[in-house]
Amino acid sequence: MAEIRRVGVVGAGLMGSGIAQVSAGAGYETVVREVEQGFLDRGMARITKTLDRAVAKDKLGAAERDAAVGRLHPTLDLADFAECDLVIEAITENLGAKHELFGALGEVCGESAVFASNTSSLSITELAARTDRPDRFVGLHFFSPVPVMPLVEVIRCGQTSDETFDCAFAFAESLGKSPIACGDNTGFVVNRLLVPYMLDAIRAYESGVASIPDIDKGLRLGCGYPMGPFTLGDFVGLDTLYHITGIMYEEYKEARFASPPLLRRMHLAGYHGRKTGKGFYDYSGDEPVVSDFVK
Ligand code: 3HC
Repeated sequence: MAEIRRVGVVGAGLMGSGIAQVSAGAGYETVVREVEQGFLDRGMARITKTLDRAVAKDKLGAAERDAAVGRLHPTLDLADFAECDLVIEAITENLGAKHELFGALGEVCGESAVFASNTSSLSITELAARTDRPDRFVGLHFFSPVPVMPLVEVIRCGQTSDETFDCAFAFAESLGKSPIACGDNTGFVVNRLLVPYMLDAIRAYESGVASIPDIDKGLRLGCGYPMGPFTLGDFVGLDTLYHITGIMYEEYKEARFASPPLLRRMHLAGYHGRKTGKGFYDYSGDEPVVSDFVK
């Protein structure tokens, strides 16, 4: 099996920075790349903040934190992935942008390097098919917040070799995660079940079943979920959720995957959840309150 020593992470957003953090924390030299210095700085700041918090809580030693930070190599230059054994893409959910990126990586990386995508809903088969290494391509789908959530979905498509799949699965385990094996079905396992649940919560609210806080409270206290569906939607990002619904509906043509009108309107209005300060809730005060859009 290919040995992974050096990992590349493309994208230092919420997911990419989390993946880079756990990779460096597990002992891998980790190159993390962004397209602009500002995005890179923000991603690195997110990582150091999370690590500092862990040190303050005595969950991580200061020396371990420093060693993890020392294994992180932020860059704006794709050429710095040349020595990577595994490159994980965590950029925006745009098929064209991902095709372009993997094309460029094919020129830079060694022949044996494995490529992985953290896509939540695009087809691994389609991404792999346009690269120079479809047999060395897998999905590695992490969950937010990456340092906390134990799951990684490892997605094998028809072209993925056994060696590549085993290598990716073992890599996820080496991060301290608990991977599961999935086929290349849009939404894989978790989003296929989670997305219709979140959409159903919006439809329940639209049809007057209960208020947003009460639906959230119902699922938290009645089922033991850490967050209700609206809090979770705001946490994941309503723009992300809306994009996923488009891809899932396109694939399955089933009404349960289609965006409810309210989600589309919130997306159009820029009410994307925590990242924009407002979604179903408004996060500008000490405690979230129901936002003006859905009052
Ligand atoms: N980054 C790093 N660590 C974080 C964090 C973050 N953004 N947010 C919380 N944490 C850590 C805290 O430091 C704390 O660590 P500790 O136990 O070592 O002290 C731990 O998580 C618990 O945090 P809190 O006590 O502050 O808060 P909660 O107990 O409410 O937990 C939560 C926060 C872990 C986010 C919890 O609410 C949760 O599990 N929510 C559900 C998350 C979920 O469903 N994620 C999946 C989303 S779907 C997805 O990602 C797929 C995509 O394709 C859409």
